[in-house]
Amino acid sequence: MPLPKIDPTSTKAWKALQTHFNEMREVDVRDLFAENPARATDFSISWNDFFVDISKNRITPKTRELLLQLADEVALKSAIEAQFQGEKINETEDRAVLHTALRDFSNMKPEVAEGLQKMKAFSEAIHNKTYKGYTGKPIDTVVNIGIGGSHLGPEMVCTALQDYNKGINVHFISNIDGDAVARTLQQVDPETTLFIVVSKTFTTQETLTNAHTVKDWFVDRTNKTAVAQHFIAVSTNPEEVAAFGILAQNTFAMWDWVGGRFSLWSAVGLSICCAIGYTNFETMLKGAHGMDQHFATAPFSENIPVALAMLSIWYNNFYGFETEAIIPYSEALNKLVPYLQQAVMESNGKQIDRNGNLVDYQTGTIVWGATGTNAQHAFFQLLHQGTKRIPTDFICVSQSNHGLQEHHDILVANCLAQSEALLEGKPAKSGEPYRTFKGNKPTTTILIEKLTPKNLGSLIALYEHKTFVQGVVWNMYSYDQWGVELGKSVAKTILQAIREKDESVLQNKSTRAIFKKVKK
Ligand code: F6P
Repeated sequence: MPLPKIDPTSTKAWKALQTHFNEMREVDVRDLFAENPARATDFSISWNDFFVDISKNRITPKTRELLLQLADEVALKSAIEAQFQGEKINETEDRAVLHTALRDFSNMKPEVAEGLQKMKAFSEAIHNKTYKGYTGKPIDTVVNIGIGGSHLGPEMVCTALQDYNKGINVHFISNIDGDAVARTLQQVDPETTLFIVVSKTFTTQETLTNAHTVKDWFVDRTNKTAVAQHFIAVSTNPEEVAAFGILAQNTFAMWDWVGGRFSLWSAVGLSICCAIGYTNFETMLKGAHGMDQHFATAPFSENIPVALAMLSIWYNNFYGFETEAIIPYSEALNKLVPYLQQAVMESNGKQIDRNGNLVDYQTGTIVWGATGTNAQHAFFQLLHQGTKRIPTDFICVSQSNHGLQEHHDILVANCLAQSEALLEGKPAKSGEPYRTFKGNKPTTTILIEKLTPKNLGSLIALYEHKTFVQGVVWNMYSYDQWGVELGKSVAKTILQAIREKDESVLQNKSTRAIFKKVKK
């Protein structure tokens, strides 16, 4: 069953939301709190270790009702079922979308279970020091070589769960800029380092160029046969892996039904597994599966990914707010925003709908942000007093892992203070208009009991599903990424011009002019 192909603007709910928006345009959320003393409870959802407060948003019970009606009219329920059942919902690539199957232990595909066993055995051999480098020393460092989905998820998780690290140094080489590879290699010892080349296709120029440079560096310092112990691959393309010189037993499989930006749950997460250990990795998968079940079974009115996605549709398509900020009050989550930027914007940054038509409504919200409190001292001025309106997610963790209570108290106080200040504002004082805070700025707070592998898994899955719901409503194919192809092919032509010192292949006059300056 393919995804339904419903133009959201043709639904009754969409039209009703347009009318409702005219009633809501001037509504002040402070008044809604005054009118309804139970608003904080009415507009919050508790689930496991999560408490999600959406009460500071520009919504009323009627808004919620109409947004849920929209979800029904675009057949969200059947879209969710189609995804979980492994239908080929990624039609432009003729693929199923089953990252959720990587974390479903009650119904696991044999090849997934086998892959996990291989990851378990491998990471345990590193931790119990039976897997050794070519001189017999145990491995103490892992370098992940990959880009996009083969980098951002693993780096984000390794950073977030550093408190669970088993004493393994983890580095990431992603950018083609030689600084990335050179600076990393200065920090590692070839005798004790494992290089994991992660590329679903094993054709990505940045990754392959970096991997070859690393291999040459390694062979220069060791010998050719040592490559077998120190180079590992994760890919769907065993032929290219073998051509690179990595042994079949050191190759971890992945599958075309796992999209790159949703692949950290597969062997793409091998660096995570090496860093935090298999048990923690499995716990993270189970945390994500918990959110999958919540998403698949909870009524939409109590469904966290659905609630957040529909809120985002409300702001994007009716208020015309173009961006969303995500502010984790957790230094451990300092890589979450770049990870989500790929997950969200590579998925929904599109303008052709599932009927092949150009859409006449806004899609793909722009996601940005940074950790609190740093962000407060950088761009919060604009959130508080600027002319742009930016719905913001505050992610707050109740209990710290570090135990520095004074720090944590200040951190949490700041998180709560910011969402309150953005809503409540501060009236003008005569003669000092610049001290005015208009308030009524929409925020959502996601409070998580503790940043554990389980809760991190749930949090990531939450945003994955939010992204999918938005794509369903916008009538998009969220799981392809054709938009990254053009730049790659243009770069090929320019690289040819650079290598052959021949500008005649360059068509664009501006490019040609810049090219001449580069060559000087
Ligand atoms: O940027 C495009 C993209 O295809 C991403 O979707 C993907 O995560 C990344 O490149 C890396 O691809 P691969 O894992 O095949 O090297």
